[in-house]
Amino acid sequence: MSKPTYYITTPIYYPSDNLHIGHSYTTVAADAEARYRRLKGYDVMFLTGTDEHGLKIQRKAEAKGVTPQQYVDEIVAGIKELWKIMNISNDRFIRTTDDYHVAAVQKIFKQLYDQGDIYKSSYEGWYCTPCESFWTETQLKDGKCPDCGRPVENAKEESYFFRLSKYQDRLIEYIESHPDFIQPVSRKNEMLNNFLRPGLEDLCVSRTTFDWGIPVTFDDKHVVYVWVDALSNYITAMGYGSDDESDYKKYWPAQVHLVGKEIVRFHTIIWPAILMALDLPLPEQVYGHGWLLIDGGKMSKSVGNVVDPVQLVDMYGADAIRYFLLREVPFGSDGQFTHEALINRINADLANDLGNLVSRTVSMQIKYFGGKMPAKEDRLDCGPVDDIKALTSGNLEKVNELMDALQFPTALTEIWKGISRMNKYIDETAPWVLAKSEDPDDKKRLAGVMYTLLEGLRIASILIEPFMPETPKKIQAQLGLTGKDDILKWENAGEWGLYPDSAEVSKGEVLFPRIDIK
Ligand code: MSP
Repeated sequence: MSKPTYYITTPIYYPSDNLHIGHSYTTVAADAEARYRRLKGYDVMFLTGTDEHGLKIQRKAEAKGVTPQQYVDEIVAGIKELWKIMNISNDRFIRTTDDYHVAAVQKIFKQLYDQGDIYKSSYEGWYCTPCESFWTETQLKDGKCPDCGRPVENAKEESYFFRLSKYQDRLIEYIESHPDFIQPVSRKNEMLNNFLRPGLEDLCVSRTTFDWGIPVTFDDKHVVYVWVDALSNYITAMGYGSDDESDYKKYWPAQVHLVGKEIVRFHTIIWPAILMALDLPLPEQVYGHGWLLIDGGKMSKSVGNVVDPVQLVDMYGADAIRYFLLREVPFGSDGQFTHEALINRINADLANDLGNLVSRTVSMQIKYFGGKMPAKEDRLDCGPVDDIKALTSGNLEKVNELMDALQFPTALTEIWKGISRMNKYIDETAPWVLAKSEDPDDKKRLAGVMYTLLEGLRIASILIEPFMPETPKKIQAQLGLTGKDDILKWENAGEWGLYPDSAEVSKGEVLFPRIDIK
C-alpha cells in the first residue's frame, strides 16, 4: 500500500536582505510538523520558497544599480543558506521567478480572463507605494496607510480585476461548513465577521506602473500583481499548469498552509476564491499563527529591533533556537522574544532538565556498571517506575494528538513532563545510596533504576526528533544506541522495555552548555 501523503507549506518569503528570527517562526514550525509526519510514515511534501516580484524589489535593485533578478538571486541564496543553518527539511523550494511558475501563472491568468473571472477596468484609490497597496478612504488610518502608517497618494490606474465578490456566498458557506478550514477558531470568526459578511470587493490583480512582475500575455502593459502570482505557488510548485502534473495530482489539496496571522485573509478568502474559479479543491486547512514580538511590537527591519537568526544559531545552536521558538509561545498567540527568556529556556529546560539528566545517567551507569546494562535477571524494579512509564511511553498518544493539531508548545510540555519526572526519580531512588548498600538486592535495584532512566531517555530522544534534529543522535550515541534503528522509530516511543541488555553507554560532549546571563 502506498503511504498517505501530507503536503505542508510555509508562505513564500519576500526577499529582504536579512530575515529576522520572527521569519524563522513559520518555517521552524512547519519543519517540526513535516518531520513528525515523516516519522509517522507519511509521504511528506514540505514546500517553502520566495515571493520575488513587485515594485519594492524593483526599486531596491535600481538603488543598488543591479537588475531585479541579480538583486533577488543574491538574497535568495542567503535565505536558502539560513534554512540550511536552521536544519529546515523542505522537500522543495519555489521561486516566483522560476520559469515553470511564470508560465503556469500566465496560463491561470489567461484562463480566468477567458472565462470572465478577470476583467479590465480602472482603479482609483489611495495608494501606499512602500506597501504596494490600494486603500479605500474608510480603510485609511488618520489619512495614512493602515499597515505602515506612511502617507498615501491618490492614484488611478488601468487594471485587471478578479471577480472576488462573486465568490462571497460560496466562501461563507464553505467556511461555515468546514470548521477546521481556518484555525485557530478566533481567526475564522475574524474572517467571517470583519471581511466576508460585510461584503467583498473585486480585487485588483494587475499593474501598469512597474514591470518587475509576470507579464500578462494578452496585454503587455500589465504585469500580474502580487497575490495571483504568489498564492498560485502552492499548486505551480507541484507542476500544476505544466506538462507534468503528477505531483499536483499526488499532493494537492494541501493538508495545511501554515501562515502568520497577517496573511490569513489572503489565504482564506482570495486563495480559495481563485481555486473555486479554477474549479480546484481547496486546501484542508489554513493555520494562522501569532507573531513574535520584540518590545511589544512586531519585529521588523524598519523598526530596527531585528534579531538575526544566523547570529543566534551561531551562539546557541540550531536545536536550542528551534526549541525556544516552538516552546515559548502558545501556538496561535503572539509572544515576546527576549534574550533573557531565550537564555532562561536554554539553561532551565535544555542544560538542566535534559542535558544534566543525560550526563548524570551516563556517568552513573559507567560508575556503577562499567557502562554496560546488567541482564534482566540482575535487575529489580525500584521506585515509582510506573510514573515514568506513564509519562514517557504512555505519553505517545497525547503527543501524537497535539502534533496532529499543530500544538507544538503543549507537545513539548508533555515530553518535558517525562524528563522532569526522571530527574525527580533520581533524587527519590538515590542511586548513590543503593550503590553503597551491602544488600545484593540493592545492587539489582540500582540496575533497575539505571534501566528505567536509560529506557526513559531512549523514548525522550525519539520524541524530541521533530523539534531538535541534532540532539537525538547525540543522546542516542551516549546511550549506546547508535545504529539500533529498529528501536528508535517513532512508534517505538510508545513501547516500554526496548533498551537492549548489554548496551553500553559512553560519555559524550555536554549537550547544552549553561549560558552565563552576563
Ligand atoms: N510574501 C508574503 C507571503 C505570500 S504567501 C503566498 C509574505 N512574506 S513575508 O516574508 O513577509 O512573511 C513570511 C512569513 O514570516 C509569514 O508567515 C509571516 O507571518 C512570518 N513572519 C514575519 N515576521 C514575523 C514575526 N515577527 N513573528 C512571526 N512570524 C512573522 O508575507
